[in-house]
Amino acid sequence: MQSVLSRLVDAVGPAYLLTDPADMAGYVVDARRRYLGSALCVARPGTTEEVAAIVRLCAESGTALVPQGGNTGMCGGATPVGARPAVVVSLERMVTIRDMDTVNSTITVDAGCRLVSIQQAAEQAGKLFPMSLGSEGNCQIGGNIATNAGGTAVLRYGNMRDLVLGIEAVLPDGRIWNGLRRLRKDNTGYDLKHLFIGSEGTLGIITGAVLRLCSRPTTSITVLASLNDIDHVLALLDALRDVFGERITTFEAMSHNEYELVLCTHAQLRDPMQVHGSWYVFMEITGMGTEDPHAAVEQFLSHHMEYGHILDATLAQTLAQSENIWRIRHSVTEANLRAGAAVSHDTSVPVSQVPDFVRQSEYGIQRAFPEADVYFVGHVGDGNIHVIAILPHAQCTAPERFAALAQQINDIVDQVTLTLAGSISAEHGIGRSNRMRLRRYKDPIELAFMDAIKAVFDPKNIMNPGTLL
Ligand code: FAD
Ligand code: MLT
Ligand code: ZN
Repeated sequence: MQSVLSRLVDAVGPAYLLTDPADMAGYVVDARRRYLGSALCVARPGTTEEVAAIVRLCAESGTALVPQGGNTGMCGGATPVGARPAVVVSLERMVTIRDMDTVNSTITVDAGCRLVSIQQAAEQAGKLFPMSLGSEGNCQIGGNIATNAGGTAVLRYGNMRDLVLGIEAVLPDGRIWNGLRRLRKDNTGYDLKHLFIGSEGTLGIITGAVLRLCSRPTTSITVLASLNDIDHVLALLDALRDVFGERITTFEAMSHNEYELVLCTHAQLRDPMQVHGSWYVFMEITGMGTEDPHAAVEQFLSHHMEYGHILDATLAQTLAQSENIWRIRHSVTEANLRAGAAVSHDTSVPVSQVPDFVRQSEYGIQRAFPEADVYFVGHVGDGNIHVIAILPHAQCTAPERFAALAQQINDIVDQVTLTLAGSISAEHGIGRSNRMRLRRYKDPIELAFMDAIKAVFDPKNIMNPGTLL
């Protein structure tokens, strides 16, 4: 019988099936460089039918499949790790914008389209696709859907779940499910697409999607402010909402040590602040039509500076200034990676509990690990804050030692999260890194249904085994 590998070559063509370890190197390591795996091959199909052919061959032979988008995921879910030989299916060649319907405000795309390409296509059509992440130049929309990505515009536009109207996917038996509906209302029973959103490649391979487009704001104001403490950050959010409501697109916060780390690891970035504080807030406020909130924003900022709620604020006057501010915000992942042995979390708590979360997690980590530096950054407007503990390199040279320390730090942060009725994963997902924590903290009824759903879709457990469940 012909081997799976040679049949896969027939399915996608020799040019699009990688088997040389050197060619596969970039596909078998994760974005945080925590997992180094190996693959039987990397298949790069160009069409949904080719994806279906690959899945059918793997289903027949019981071969594991690992769907891969831009490989920017934070939890190792796109990396083939483990004893079972796996085929990585990279969607990188599936980059067609299939349809743009401005009156319906939808765009239909191949799952391999990079997020930035969809943002650009929407802009060219006079629309906005609002999903925005630091990884937007590399991540793919299929990966964004599979992880139910969040990012910096969730406060105004919601997360990926709120932006998807339809999905096309190849199921684990190779059938193609065409759920590419462009409807805002479709009340015909269970909604399959919502199972695929956040499924992390465990239920099938997403090959296409219909996305909701939004109206494009005419004015956008970027503000960076420094503040004394996290209570002031939350008070500012509350006050800002009272004045600007839905016009606030983004409200992000960063602790001073993270801000310093970003600036000292990225020499090309300019520090726009005159007066520094313990915290920084990155805000975007937009206006529609003839509305220009500049004067109102300036008035708001001077009022809050006068009363000492804000130490200093800078309102970007040019596109370059605005880009510099957002680059500071979006450079945290790279800065933390360069800083060394970082244990990162992706917690959400009710917005009102963010200050308690910050204080309690910092206290708990520092009490157990006085040598650790504790950093914070996140989407405070959504109650999603990333706490990052960076340990001295010398403590973490052996991977097993680092894993043990990371687990202790996770336990500390998770206990605080639990007490504040939060979630251990707000936007990054579970992947490989958080499976044990999911088993520990997820409601048993929900877990049982998740296991049952997986068994219905994928009884042979070929879709991304070892991820999520
Ligand atoms: P991958 O990493 O390739 O895959 C992620 C998971 O999705 C895997 O389990 C994979 O199997 C599955 N998958 C991928 N494509 C498909 C498909 N077509 N069908 C089925 N399953 C698939 N995330 C946020 O939520 N918010 C942020 O603010 C944010 N900022 C980031 C900033 C930086 C600098 C970086 C490096 C990452 C950031 N991330 C953020 C994490 C990451 O970019 C997102 O999780 C993103 O959605 C992953 O997309 P991807 O295409 O890279 O997916
Ligand atoms: C962010 O908010 O910058 C991202 O989620 C990435 C990260 O946590 O490193
Ligand atoms: Zn984030």
